[in-house]
Amino acid sequence: MSERLIIRGGTPLEGRIKVPGAKNSALPLLAATLLTDEPVTLKNVPPLKDVGTMLSMIQQLGKRIEKPAPMTVRVTGGIETNRAPEELVRKMRASFLVLSPLLGRVGEAEVPLPGGCNIGTRPVDLHLNGLSRLGTEISQTDGRIIARANNLQGNEIFLDYPSVGTTEQLLMAAVRADGETDIYNGAQEPEVRDLVDFLVELGADVEVDGSILTVRGSEELHGGEYEVLPDRIAAGTYMIAIAATGGHATVGEVRPSIMKQLTLKMRKSGITVNEGPDSLEVISGRRPKNLEIRTLPYPGFPTDLQAPVSALLTIAEGKSVVKETVFDSRFGHVAELRKMGADISVPNSSTLFINGTDGLRGAKVEATDIRAGASLVIAGLAASGTTEVVGLGHIDRGYSRLVENFQDLSAQLEKKI
Ligand code: EPZ
Repeated sequence: MSERLIIRGGTPLEGRIKVPGAKNSALPLLAATLLTDEPVTLKNVPPLKDVGTMLSMIQQLGKRIEKPAPMTVRVTGGIETNRAPEELVRKMRASFLVLSPLLGRVGEAEVPLPGGCNIGTRPVDLHLNGLSRLGTEISQTDGRIIARANNLQGNEIFLDYPSVGTTEQLLMAAVRADGETDIYNGAQEPEVRDLVDFLVELGADVEVDGSILTVRGSEELHGGEYEVLPDRIAAGTYMIAIAATGGHATVGEVRPSIMKQLTLKMRKSGITVNEGPDSLEVISGRRPKNLEIRTLPYPGFPTDLQAPVSALLTIAEGKSVVKETVFDSRFGHVAELRKMGADISVPNSSTLFINGTDGLRGAKVEATDIRAGASLVIAGLAASGTTEVVGLGHIDRGYSRLVENFQDLSAQLEKKI
């Protein structure tokens, strides 16, 4: 019998919690450790299943991993193979980011094509087109990409879409290319900026001007130490849960400046959000008001908070509209929220119409991806009665200490086999 989360809803969340480093920064940073054979120490690394998968990946490529302290990872050693193992890439799409570091260091790399997942097809055409612009020969055999480049050549690259992973992939290639690379229409997510700052820490020459990233390649990068930026998506998830339960609580170790999208939307919904230097206090009080949400690349509203905020809007006053513009099928939470009494219609594949009801009721629901799972936990915390959530493996990929954090905020929930 798989693990289940049993949530007894209706308790307003109160207290204070702290979120660790960002999953979506730690993953590319760990891939980037392949760019040097000198020791690299990363701090504030979140203890997540996906991080474990990436650690296994770089270990299988030759790296040695030590954990000298909680949430600290020390990576040493060199690259012993340039063939990424199939099962790890299939398990986690972000593993595809090892392609460029291997290519830049060894001149050839073989990485399986990442599968789609429950939020869309998620091709890697932009990654491969960009690498071709840098002089890479790309071939494909039985689901594996083989990339060859004796010398990567700097070039100008325009991204048809400001893809986060593509920008990260091309940054890690360009730092080893001869000459200058200019990436136009690059992603501006804070996690991409974290990778830039990390690469500079390792000795790379990278400048960022909005959506233009300029890299001057260099032969070798040295080791260094870096602290992963706080997880704005985990923090936002907890903030939404506090609001959904009518609670009053504070989420710590965040950068309020990179969370304005959610903060200002919550204030528009009538929820008080007080900004501290590195924390956000949420005081919900009354029933939230309806909102219009459109997900966009940063600095737009983050797609990773679309499912969590949709859960909040199911109990808001009035009719809300949610448009998902980043992924082509990221509504796995809708059918499950409907089981809890949510009134949601899906007029087309990218839009939700949510008629707020005055309360959800507990039900048995299933998580289909990381953020859909978080959405169901939020709904269960806000609902009357008991909610049982299965598919917790998805949630554990993206949220560390989720149950403990909510228990620290007085929620009534527990994991059961
Ligand atoms: C990163 O995924 C994040 N993952 C995602 O978080 C996040 O939702 C996404 O960025 C957008 O912010 C990590 O950082 C590990 P994209 P990524 O390339 O890089 C299309 C979570 O829940 N596209 O910006 O894969 C793609 O299909 C995860 O933590 C192409 O068409 O996102 C999507 O529709 C989910 N061709 C859109 O671009 C390509 O070559 C945005 O994808 C690449 C992407």
